[in-house]
Amino acid sequence: MQSETSSPLSRRQLAAGAASLCCLASLPSHARGHAPSLAVGDFLMPAQGKDSALLTESQIRNGDTAIMCWPVSAQTHQPRMETPYNRLWVVRTQAGFRGYSVICQHAGCLVSDWDSKTHRLTCPCHGSVYDVEHDGAVVGGPAPLPLPFAAIAVVDGHLRLAGGFSAKVGGHASRAD
Ligand code: FES
Repeated sequence: MQSETSSPLSRRQLAAGAASLCCLASLPSHARGHAPSLAVGDFLMPAQGKDSALLTESQIRNGDTAIMCWPVSAQTHQPRMETPYNRLWVVRTQAGFRGYSVICQHAGCLVSDWDSKTHRLTCPCHGSVYDVEHDGAVVGGPAPLPLPFAAIAVVDGHLRLAGGFSAKVGGHASRAD
């Protein structure tokens, strides 16, 4: 694990990051139900590859790139790998950086496919397709709800969580549906 080199996140910086996405100000109480380990201020670490460096703004220069990440505690510097519900697809949308859940809203499979041309995420199990430029809206397949996302702020060049998920994470139907 690379040591943290940036200064701690100040209350003012966190407030600014959270305020940048107004929907997070009214998070329902169940929003963290399946991702209890996420915390505001968490760093992000790419989930694939050998490099355990913390994710920086420069790694996602435009909307064509999506990187699956684990959140990393700002206090312990340990990745929060205790549940797959913590993983996020980090993307740069026209509304700013966001971290979309990797758990399909249909029956809970891994949303594993990123299309850099359409900026959509697809679940291979039954073909649900989510549009990251439109708040994770379902644009194909059987998923009943949009893909939840968390706001991400840029602090000293690092991408850090600025809020919890926008809705309950996880499958809302059995895999036989
Ligand atoms: S679990 Fe993703 S489309 Fe069914």
